[in-house]
Amino acid sequence: MTETATLVGRPVHRIGFGAMQLPGKGVFGPPRDRDAALAVLRRAIELGVNHIDTAQYYGPDVSNELIHAALHPYPDDLVLVTKVGGDRDDKGGWIGAQRPEQLRAGVEANLRSLQIERIDAVNLRRMDEHTEGADESNDQHVPLADQLAELVALRDEGKIGGIGLSTVDVDQLREGLDYTDIVCVQNAYNLRQRDDQPVFDLCRERGIPYVPYFPLGSAFGVSVHVTQDDAVKSVAQRLGVTATQVGLAWLLAQSDNVLLIPGTSSVEHLEENLGAGDVTLDDEALAELG
Ligand SMILES: NC(=O)c1ccc[n+]([C@@H]2O[C@H](COP(=O)([O-])OP(=O)(O)OC[C@H]3O[C@@H](n4cnc5c(N)ncnc54)[C@H](OP(=O)(O)O)[C@@H]3O)[C@@H](O)[C@H]2O)c1
Repeated sequence: MTETATLVGRPVHRIGFGAMQLPGKGVFGPPRDRDAALAVLRRAIELGVNHIDTAQYYGPDVSNELIHAALHPYPDDLVLVTKVGGDRDDKGGWIGAQRPEQLRAGVEANLRSLQIERIDAVNLRRMDEHTEGADESNDQHVPLADQLAELVALRDEGKIGGIGLSTVDVDQLREGLDYTDIVCVQNAYNLRQRDDQPVFDLCRERGIPYVPYFPLGSAFGVSVHVTQDDAVKSVAQRLGVTATQVGLAWLLAQSDNVLLIPGTSSVEHLEENLGAGDVTLDDEALAELG
């Protein structure tokens, strides 16, 4: 297993698990095979995973319910991280839930479905991309400070351990840091999608855990999946490892504050992804990957 890092003051392995691939297609509804989904979670813990990322709106309620069914009572060393700020419509569409009272309801819904009194960390998932161009009167245009005030209140009440930010730009991250402690940042970033570099660099400079989502390229085709990338495949072949291991090892090599949460619905892929912790990319590989 990988070396450890610190998240919300707790030691975690640098490779954790993202629970977004566990529900049905489109992260909506139950999994195709419930036993297989439970097996992935149990195997993750067996292999030393102690950082799981989830959201009540995965399913909705499916990822959290599976985590509860597979793992409760939770291991003492497990750091559970969720996110608020989003919701789903009847057809599975992604919608914002950005208003302070919606953030509070989101935290409460996570506590209920995970059956815990306090969650280790909550990422405020900004949904600016869903409100872009919308009328200013749209009630999902909420100042960051108003949102953070609600999360700070929830932290003061003991319902959340730490506050993270997700899908923020560098100005929003600076604003957040001026407002309160930020325990992690979760933004999209991988070998072939590096437009978040300014936020990545600020997190490195400030020693804030940076937890890239879509580390392999996502299940949605958002960027090229590492398994489809020629340079990644060539390095993998030369080193005798797999393409996903190269993609994840590349992320780990970027900076010590990077923590990974690759998502999978398969035990085989989980085992492969965790194996990335043992892969060292030599200079030639790093140069080839660009
Ligand atoms: N904050 C946010 O807004 C946000 C947004 C998105 C995601 N996240 C979090 O970030 C985590 C990671 O992102 P992600 O799951 O969306 O994308 P990802 O980890 O980049 O990629 C997941 C995709 O890769 C496949 N995959 C995984 N391991 C593989 C392997 N060893 N070989 C081949 N294919 C493999 C998965 O399919 P299989 O199921 O078949 O393995 C799935 O299609 C999520 O699980 C979620 O917890 C957060």
